[in-house]
Amino acid sequence: MTEMTPVTDVAAAKAPKVPALPDAQTVTEVKHWTDRLFSFRCTRPASLRFRSGEFVMIGLMGDVNPKTGKQKPLLRAYSIASPSWDEEMEFYSIKVQDGPLTSKLQHIKVGDEVILRPKPVGTLVHDALIPGKRIWFFATGTGFAPFASLLREPETYEKFDEIIITHTCREVGELTYGRELIEGLKEDELLNEVIGEGFWKKIKYYPTTTREESPKMGRITDLMRSGEAFADLGVEPLNPDTDRAMICGNLAFNLELKDLFENTYNLEEGANSKPAHFVVEKAFLD
Ligand code: A2P
Repeated sequence: MTEMTPVTDVAAAKAPKVPALPDAQTVTEVKHWTDRLFSFRCTRPASLRFRSGEFVMIGLMGDVNPKTGKQKPLLRAYSIASPSWDEEMEFYSIKVQDGPLTSKLQHIKVGDEVILRPKPVGTLVHDALIPGKRIWFFATGTGFAPFASLLREPETYEKFDEIIITHTCREVGELTYGRELIEGLKEDELLNEVIGEGFWKKIKYYPTTTREESPKMGRITDLMRSGEAFADLGVEPLNPDTDRAMICGNLAFNLELKDLFENTYNLEEGANSKPAHFVVEKAFLD
């Protein structure tokens, strides 16, 4: 190997890197999944504790205000896609070309800084549900993010015998992040050791698309109403004695499922302060 002293390293040694942003974290990995979706990982604030399924405010410094010459942080709520035990943080995001934040955030590179306010909150947590046998995760689009966290959380498998994850997207490519994450659980040595060999066999994955041909087409709501989803999965419709659910998707989806749960399956909405059968959260959109 050739010995080299990069000029930048010498400069860095003289002037230690000071975070340029408040609550700055450094990006460690960026993956682009489609022209509309990407995920990234960044360092985790040493003092940050959170429950799998929660969200935080993240963002970038906004443009300089020409009148005041000042910059303000541009922040949005993002579900943490990594589990509570992970030493890094992961986020899964849409790219909106004229979105105030994601038009810029989509260009971040390894080594860049993002702002991460270390105040986690949210309702998609185990604490907001009463015990049950089976847990359902219902997602559309980037609403998969909190479930990327919860699917890697040992508590999910300790508390439930069966985990059903449904993900409805417009196009096939939008399912890749979720599919690869679930596939990856099989080979995850740490999780197989901590949770138990073959823990991933508890998962039933039900991906559907609405605007591009795939093995299962249609909105999950319609597939449940017709009974097709339950027949495909080989399970009974949701029942308050056994089933618990978490919902994370666009607003219309959340409202439709909430209505279905309350009026068809007799499930009651829970919260941190009053655990019950299901919980809902809106997926981030720029
Ligand atoms: P559709 O293509 O039929 O609108 P979006 O990208 O607009 O957030 O949508 C993500 C996915 O969620 C799409 O597949 C979309 O289906 C689906 N979707 C949108 N609204 C609902 C709803 N009310 N119930 C079920 N699925 C929905």
